[in-house]
Amino acid sequence: MRLPIAFVSSTLVLLSALRVSAHIGPGFAMPESRDVVHHHLRSRGTNGRLMLRAAPSSESQESSEQDPSQECKPYGLKSSSALGKVYPKAGQIADIVSGDDTGATLFKEILDSGIIPGNVQVKKGTQGNMGIDQGQSDSYDDSDPDCWWTATGCTSPKHKQLSHDLDSCPEPNTWGLSFDDGPNCSHNAFYDFLQKEKLRATLFYIGTNVIDWPLQAQRGLTDGHDICVHTWSHHYTTTLSTSQVFSELYYTMRIIKDVIGVTPRCWRPPYGDVDDRVRAIATALGLRTIVWDHDTDDWNIVPGGKQSTAKIESNYQKIIDAGKNGSTADKGIMVLTHELTNQTMDMFMNEYSKVKAAYKNLVPISACMNASSPYVEDQPTYSNFADFTSGKVDAQGLPQPDAIKINVNSKLNITSEKDQKSAGGFSSASAKKSKTQGDSSSSSPDSQASAAPNSNKSSDKEDGNSASFTPIHVLSISMTAALVSFASWAL
Ligand SMILES: *[C@@H]1O[C@H](CO)[C@@H](O)[C@H](O)[C@H]1NC(C)=O
Ligand SMILES: *[C@@H]1O[C@H](CO)[C@@H](O)[C@H](O)[C@H]1NC(C)=O
Ligand SMILES: *[C@@H]1O[C@H](CO)[C@@H](O)[C@H](O)[C@H]1NC(C)=O
Ligand SMILES: *[C@@H]1O[C@H](CO)[C@@H](O)[C@H](O)[C@H]1NC(C)=O
Ligand SMILES: *[C@@H]1O[C@H](CO)[C@@H](O)[C@H](O)[C@H]1NC(C)=O
Ligand SMILES: *[C@@H]1O[C@H](CO)[C@@H](O)[C@H](O)[C@H]1NC(C)=O
Ligand SMILES: [Zn+2]
Repeated sequence: MRLPIAFVSSTLVLLSALRVSAHIGPGFAMPESRDVVHHHLRSRGTNGRLMLRAAPSSESQESSEQDPSQECKPYGLKSSSALGKVYPKAGQIADIVSGDDTGATLFKEILDSGIIPGNVQVKKGTQGNMGIDQGQSDSYDDSDPDCWWTATGCTSPKHKQLSHDLDSCPEPNTWGLSFDDGPNCSHNAFYDFLQKEKLRATLFYIGTNVIDWPLQAQRGLTDGHDICVHTWSHHYTTTLSTSQVFSELYYTMRIIKDVIGVTPRCWRPPYGDVDDRVRAIATALGLRTIVWDHDTDDWNIVPGGKQSTAKIESNYQKIIDAGKNGSTADKGIMVLTHELTNQTMDMFMNEYSKVKAAYKNLVPISACMNASSPYVEDQPTYSNFADFTSGKVDAQGLPQPDAIKINVNSKLNITSEKDQKSAGGFSSASAKKSKTQGDSSSSSPDSQASAAPNSNKSSDKEDGNSASFTPIHVLSISMTAALVSFASWAL
């Protein structure tokens, strides 16, 4: 089958500037190095006075830093070296860490449970699994037996026990707000802006970034956003072995639990690349799969990407227009935007007044889905849609910024997504409900307002092609040592 999406065709460029250590993330550049860190003085302007300070050791210290280059200076915490020993290497495809009996046992239990379909092929990757092989996709069966999103935009699994992916915000005139690829080290100006505007978002965090920038990750929670998993190393998950997919999800859940103190119940596949094998592993880990139905393509903005600022603005404008012309009057949207770079964050800040004028509500996905209890833990709790839109944007039971203790090797309490009966999560209970309501569970790929005019296939591709199938370039990120990878795509 010839797919109407872009496939990797050429180069992978690794720019290894910025960071020295290729094997240890910036968070570990100075393990056990409080002494060293204390000598590592940084300047910071406060009311016009120049102040010197040590590298941050608390969330509130880090959050008050206003200079992006200071924010992105590596720092070590007391816990850093201990964390480094029990996690996969930052930026590399995760697999079960040797000596991790808990992880190995959980993996075996999942295999033994039989939830993982045996007839879904591992897809062939290219360029270190930062792309999908064209031949693989050409030969993929038209009937889409794997519900492979990358090929067809499929969101309704073909295999049993798997929930429909969340791809839209059901509430009318509503923009489901989420930002992928964080925590970005230099996100303070952006998070300050979200605070000022009383905006809360769903943040899809990359495990490697959490381990590299633990204090920035804590801020996501303490600011009242809700946190979901975006894999350990941001590769095409359908190309990874079953133990790698397990590890990409499991270790990201665990680092979020260790560093932020909560266990997410939601994840988003990088590039949207998911099929029923991957969904099954996520389901077993208690994670609901979330994709999107409108794409700003902001990841591709210059200078990291290839699209002009004007082009990304026009992508935003189309989505803004959809809010104005009545096409979201029955059903809202879920928009793909990124915390990836200064430019993607600036873009949202610049577009926000127009977005706000066009949409009645801007809410995190938790509010879209009434997921008032988005974590395995009872606390914190978040507002449902009605409460959120009546002004109660603050989550309840959030930790104080500096009260979060990093725990190495927290125990996760894993309940399969299909068994998460209790209300308030992202669980299949709501999927079943929307199925019976027939609002978003058609077995054909979703045809949303943003779908390409001549196709019922995937049009919204994270870090991939958008509505127009012209050759573009893909920016992928490998966080180890802040490597930036560019994969070149063509039709
Ligand atoms: C509304 O605007 C969107 C985005 O420009 C467009 O795709 C859609 O067709 C428009 N719908 C109507 C009813 O005009
Ligand atoms: C964050 O944003 C800065 C500025 O655009 C960029 O240099 C950096 O690579 C980004 N990524 C992370 C993980 O912080
Ligand atoms: C982007 O960088 C500029 C220049 O350093 C800075 O003024 C601006 O606040 C940054 N934007 C964000 C969202 O961090
Ligand atoms: C959320 O709750 C409201 C009632 O407050 C209901 O109308 C809406 O359908 C619910 N949304 C979902 C996705 O269950
Ligand atoms: C684990 O979670 C389940 C529900 O998801 C709960 O019933 C059980 O008490 C939890 N176990 C622990 C040890 O917290
Ligand atoms: C949608 O996909 C189906 C199955 O691949 C195909 O038969 C049909 O022609 C497609 N429709 C459009 C409008 O492309
Ligand atoms: Zn991503």
